[in-house]
Amino acid sequence: MRQNLGKSTISTNMAVCAARAGKKVLLVDLDEKQKSAANWWKRREIEDDIKAVIVPHDIEKVKEIYGFAQKQGYDLVIFDTKGASDTLHNVIIGFATLCIVPVQPSVFDLEAIPSTANMIKSLDKPFTRCSSF
Ligand SMILES: Nc1ncnc2c1ncn2[C@@H]1O[C@H](COP(=O)(O)OP(=O)(O)OP(=O)(O)O)[C@@H](O)[C@H]1O
Ligand SMILES: [Mg+2]
Repeated sequence: MRQNLGKSTISTNMAVCAARAGKKVLLVDLDEKQKSAANWWKRREIEDDIKAVIVPHDIEKVKEIYGFAQKQGYDLVIFDTKGASDTLHNVIIGFATLCIVPVQPSVFDLEAIPSTANMIKSLDKPFTRCSSF
């Protein structure tokens, strides 16, 4: 997936919507360097049922945090990924009940969708495109 598409914006917005609907939400920020979602969470002054964690780009660490979320009774785990696609993304897609693919209305974005969509389809997971601008 391309960078700067609105992944973190959509992830944080969804976390708030789910928390407002009474869900316990874990927001997993997979961009250790940029930390957009985690920094957003730190800046918040609202006490609600959202927790954010930064998790390294590492398969075992991602499996660990997903297991932790299940044990702790989180209703929703949102993975805010980094741009590039790799094996880790396959693992995350494997956990997912829904994959959200942000798309900007540009030819380059539209051309990039099929490879991401095929990756998700090959793992037999549902996905939706979300126009981020
Ligand atoms: N719906 C929107 N309308 C206007 N600006 C937006 C919208 N969604 C995101 N942005 C802006 O676009 C920029 C990129 O958004 P964001 O950080 O969510 O993308 P990203 O895909 O997570 O990027 P990265 O690949 O760097 O992690 C930010 O400056 C954000 O404020
Ligand atoms: Mg981001």
